[in-house]
Amino acid sequence: MPNLLHLDSSADLSTSRSRAITAAFADAWRALGDDHTVTRRDLHVDQLPHLSDSALHWPPRLRQAGDAPDPAHEALQQTLIAELVAADVLLIGAPLYNYSVPSTLKAWIDNIHLPAVTAPFDGDDQQPLAGRPAVIVTSRGGVYDEGTDTEGWDHATPVLDIILGRTLGMRVEVIATNLTLSDRLPMPDGSRERAEREFAEATQAAADAARRLG
Ligand SMILES: Cc1cc2nc3c(=O)[nH]c(=O)nc-3n(C[C@H](O)[C@H](O)[C@H](O)COP(=O)(O)O)c2cc1C
Repeated sequence: MPNLLHLDSSADLSTSRSRAITAAFADAWRALGDDHTVTRRDLHVDQLPHLSDSALHWPPRLRQAGDAPDPAHEALQQTLIAELVAADVLLIGAPLYNYSVPSTLKAWIDNIHLPAVTAPFDGDDQQPLAGRPAVIVTSRGGVYDEGTDTEGWDHATPVLDIILGRTLGMRVEVIATNLTLSDRLPMPDGSRERAEREFAEATQAAADAARRLG
């Protein structure tokens, strides 16, 4: 039973591009057959708590004397990690907020990234997600092309690539749509057309990726 974990984090519930693109992926995934299941977590609608205690970054055997994190938070963390480990493919809608990931998505990352549990620390078999696909859908109001003044300002995709790709060992793919604010802000000529073209291409790429990975 191939299982997709579908996360969204856009705070826009009506016109979000990342939500539309992840929905295209999830719809194509479901269309592959009844055995293709989807676990859905909307990180904006059902927000997770921030990490309540730094001890929760570590599994019990690596904690320090006196550490006593909240058992209820620890149980939630175990649920989130189990949900992730049960996923054959991870899909994340990740809009660019203030040059970073939305805080709701960051809270999820802080809850699932644990040395020696999901990331390598002191032994073998500490990367249960190794080799599994992770598809990041990034939607950005502006543009961060090579050679532009804002090249390198996007700190969302690089951090997702480090966490999911390097530490969790997943096979990261990025589907990007840019200039989504071109209908609200003054932008260079051709920006709206590029935004629409990229959105259409990203939606198609998402459906294609679901069929390829499913
Ligand atoms: C709180 C907030 C912060 C934003 N910060 C940035 C930013 O730093 N750079 C950028 O290019 N766009 C920024 N935007 C615009 C969003 O990236 C853009 O609207 C994007 O399409 C949001 O994704 P969505 O369409 O899936 O909701 C921001 C939007 C919001 C709501």
